[in-house]
Amino acid sequence: VLSDPYNSTHIKESGKVVEEITSSIINNKNILFNIISIKNHDYYTYLHSTNTAVLSIALGAAAGVSRDRLHSLGLGGLLHDIGKTNIPLDVLNKPGRLTFFEYRMMQNHVMEGEKILKNQPYFPENAMSAVTQHHEKLNGQGYPFNLTGSYITIYGRILALVDTYDALTTQRPYKVAHTPFEALSIIVNECEQYDPDLLKTFIKMLGGVED
Ligand SMILES: [Fe+2]
Repeated sequence: VLSDPYNSTHIKESGKVVEEITSSIINNKNILFNIISIKNHDYYTYLHSTNTAVLSIALGAAAGVSRDRLHSLGLGGLLHDIGKTNIPLDVLNKPGRLTFFEYRMMQNHVMEGEKILKNQPYFPENAMSAVTQHHEKLNGQGYPFNLTGSYITIYGRILALVDTYDALTTQRPYKVAHTPFEALSIIVNECEQYDPDLLKTFIKMLGGVED
């Protein structure tokens, strides 16, 4: 939108994104509380969560996910890292290498997220895999369950892709941000970890944004 502000298609697409966010907030007051608790805990995770929600809805739409399922996908995207609110900040923001124990603690945010959300009456059951599978990799080298291939849902596959992309393109105190092109090159180099059709759609989608 910012690169071509007079393009009405872009404005129309922005409207769809806001509609998703609006219906989430109106339908579920707990969601707002969840988002605020992420922001209070760690501002980077808050920004990363909102970026991931927008990117996952956009990729889902481009990949043909139906309108009502996009809602669950976006909600899963927004809250995929909510378990980080239970991870100590010194581990979450540690600039150097994590020890084995710290790394295990960090990985635990996935199961913590499931624990928080499974008792939420307004968090749809079909959105849960976006949270529980966002660190799974198609080749079985992800966590927490080393799931492979068809054991990973389309929500999990979309989240894995956009989560990595957003992390790579964001600056942190201990690393520079990669450009979108560099980030996609890194992802393509590790393409055995991602759904090949989704990766193609994602590259095409971002190419359209860049044009
Ligand atoms: Fe995560």
